[in-house]
Amino acid sequence: MHSPALVALAAALLPQLPTGFTSRQLENVRDRLLERDLRSWELGTAAQALTEYSWPALSVFNVSAFPPPSPLPPSLNASDVLSIAHTVVLERPHNTLALIANEGSAADPASIGVAVLLANWTRTDRTDTSYAEAAGEQLGFLLHDVPRTESGAISHRNEQAQLWADFVYMVPPFIAYFGALQGGRGGRELLQTSYDQCRLYREALRDEGGLWRHIAHGNWQDPTHWATGNAWAAAGMLRVLQTLNHTAQAERFTRQQADLREWIDEILEASWDYQRPNGAVYNVIDDDESFTDTAATALLAAVTYRMAAITGDARHLPFANRAFNLIKDSIDEDGWLLDTTDPYTFHQPSPPGQYSPEGQAFVLLLHSAWRALSDLANE
Ligand SMILES: *[C@@H]1O[C@H](CO)[C@@H](O)[C@H](O)[C@H]1NC(C)=O
Ligand SMILES: *[C@@H]1O[C@H](CO)[C@@H](O)[C@H](O)[C@H]1NC(C)=O
Ligand SMILES: *[C@@H]1O[C@H](CO)[C@@H](O)[C@H](O)[C@H]1NC(C)=O
Ligand SMILES: *[C@@H]1O[C@H](CO)[C@@H](O)[C@H](O)[C@H]1NC(C)=O
Repeated sequence: MHSPALVALAAALLPQLPTGFTSRQLENVRDRLLERDLRSWELGTAAQALTEYSWPALSVFNVSAFPPPSPLPPSLNASDVLSIAHTVVLERPHNTLALIANEGSAADPASIGVAVLLANWTRTDRTDTSYAEAAGEQLGFLLHDVPRTESGAISHRNEQAQLWADFVYMVPPFIAYFGALQGGRGGRELLQTSYDQCRLYREALRDEGGLWRHIAHGNWQDPTHWATGNAWAAAGMLRVLQTLNHTAQAERFTRQQADLREWIDEILEASWDYQRPNGAVYNVIDDDESFTDTAATALLAAVTYRMAAITGDARHLPFANRAFNLIKDSIDEDGWLLDTTDPYTFHQPSPPGQYSPEGQAFVLLLHSAWRALSDLANE
């Protein structure tokens, strides 16, 4: 399945990998994630995390991701992921094009789109067009209705053209997945669009040195190198990279894949340069007055393990290993990830007794990435 050289490399790396989370930790983390009412991007991120954690054969990281088996075999029912898609499509008002109504963000609802497309593809009732319609309207809304910058970057917001690094995890992976399932010329155009949006966002947000600003354009900005924003961007580009790589049309996207690998690596390189001795990165990566954030640290480490499994490049593994050990030690007995940033204000620690739903999902993504690298070594 993988090249013998990559497997040999992974095997050589295996002794360096830390021991994993306990299954009790993982089940608690998952249960805490799902017991809250989640906002649109949290739902989309949860669906992706559950896919990678429980149904890795269906995630875009699997070489046989396209097309997914239909109907799904009972051992691969993806029930928790499909239940998110089901509820969202059921509750979507008829007069709204986005998957979730009344979000200021044009991008966040689209993060659920991959789960909705999976639900359509694998549905047992072939007369049910509700998922395909919901996904199609969400796509059309992004491509035709949402404001854009002069460069053509689709806005993260509905009310004005404004670019947030978060967008890269919410939208391009959905457009790419749509294109991968559609195939043909139309699918190819969508795959190219997903890449182009990553490129345009990088052009707008990347600073010298490789870190990305959080928010640019529009009537206010957040020019800080917000750790979660950098992690969203790297992780989003990674999903696009793997979607391109696993489509039937992969060979037409060789150059785009090379760019994405370089752009992901650029964020990892710049971010880990600022890793604190405890393994974390600061909430504002290059600001000494900031505080450390386990959530972004977990997602950056997840991307690092995935990239090592894809390219065999082990340069950043020691950083990811330190981060991994910190995350293992930062999960309390109920399964909450401690010491996160407040994902709603961006620039304060989560208040006492409050936690980060996306941080919970990032732990599952980190475990899934760690497991993929370990499995590769044992292939
Ligand atoms: C990828 O999917 C195939 C087919 O469903 C499965 O046999 C394989 O185990 C999966 N690999 C991973 C790493 O999940
Ligand atoms: C889906 O699969 C899981 C694990 O394989 C199983 O525990 C669960 O009962 C299944 N759910 C449905 C609805 O079949
Ligand atoms: C929905 O699934 C069908 C297969 O049942 C497929 O032909 C169609 O393209 C899918 N729609 C979307 C939007 O992916
Ligand atoms: C998929 O990615 C691997 C790893 O980067 C690369 O070696 C391979 O050429 C890619 N495959 C295609 C078809 O683009």
